[in-house]
Amino acid sequence: MQSINIKSRPRRLRKNEIVRNLVQETILSPAQFIAPVFIHEGKEPEIKINSMPGIFQFSIDRALKHIEELKNNRINSILIFGIPNEKDNEASSAWDENGIIQKANKKIKEHFPDILLVNDTCLCEYMAHGHCGIVLEKDILNDPTLDILQKTAVSQAASGADIIAPSGMMDGMVSAIRSALDQNGFQDTAIISYAVKYASSFYGPFREAAESTPQFGDRKSYQMNPGNKKEAIREALTDEKEGADIIMIKPAMPYLDIILAVKDKVNLPVAAYNVSGEYSMIKAASQNGWLDENKAAYEMLTSIKRAGADIIISYFAKDLLKLLKSFED
Ligand code: PBG
Repeated sequence: MQSINIKSRPRRLRKNEIVRNLVQETILSPAQFIAPVFIHEGKEPEIKINSMPGIFQFSIDRALKHIEELKNNRINSILIFGIPNEKDNEASSAWDENGIIQKANKKIKEHFPDILLVNDTCLCEYMAHGHCGIVLEKDILNDPTLDILQKTAVSQAASGADIIAPSGMMDGMVSAIRSALDQNGFQDTAIISYAVKYASSFYGPFREAAESTPQFGDRKSYQMNPGNKKEAIREALTDEKEGADIIMIKPAMPYLDIILAVKDKVNLPVAAYNVSGEYSMIKAASQNGWLDENKAAYEMLTSIKRAGADIIISYFAKDLLKLLKSFED
């Protein structure tokens, strides 16, 4: 064979696992994951969610056990969603001091004072019509919804939430919530804003889990058009100015370019929500024997981190240690 002068031989650093790990640029750590948890108001300890294998609606008591399991897996941050018994057109159970989230917050903090407790601050689960705001005929009203979000955020903070996560995509929601929290003595309660949230079909399984499917129309008048990128930057910069502490992008995997673009423009930590559809897709394919679940999930989460997410909210958080291990095998 003729001697060939190949200058660059990247394969030298792929020779074995030790050298591969030595030069690995993106590493997943459970410290940067938030696990979503669904809590319903009934007595039933756990209700299966058919569209999300391995995920349940828990009673408050059963949720405490689940949190213990998460802690044993080094997940110390949770994002809780409430499924109330009663829904109406003012989302009254979202800001009731005896609402499901408020009761859950108190119990969770009593048992786990150190857990980082994030509350989803949205109204769709509490509204009879399933929209994220006050409805007048077919319109979702912006400013009247802000009043309810303020009341909800204050009652969540008062019952123990460390972080408020408004997800309704109402204009001005971050400044409205920030000022309400401050006026009520909750200056130290942080805000993760769902700043860049697309109108996505990947939320399908969540809507079964949270019982929050809109009863008419869709969410396109408040959630973003998947075709837009500059609008994502505008949304993120607006929320940064309004006082958000962390900027979230959602969904994650189909929007890696958006994570990268937003990360470049804001000076706040960036979170990505690896949503229900992204989880269920991998579950379904692996149940069919088409994908290796652990390896595919590991790869998906790594790509989200590599794109620029500092924090990942994922239904796979509970399995992260297992995923990391499967990659080593
Ligand atoms: C509430 C909310 C949704 C999700 C998080 N908060 C659903 C929606 O906007 O329809 C989706 C999360 C997921 O799919 O995992 N507005």
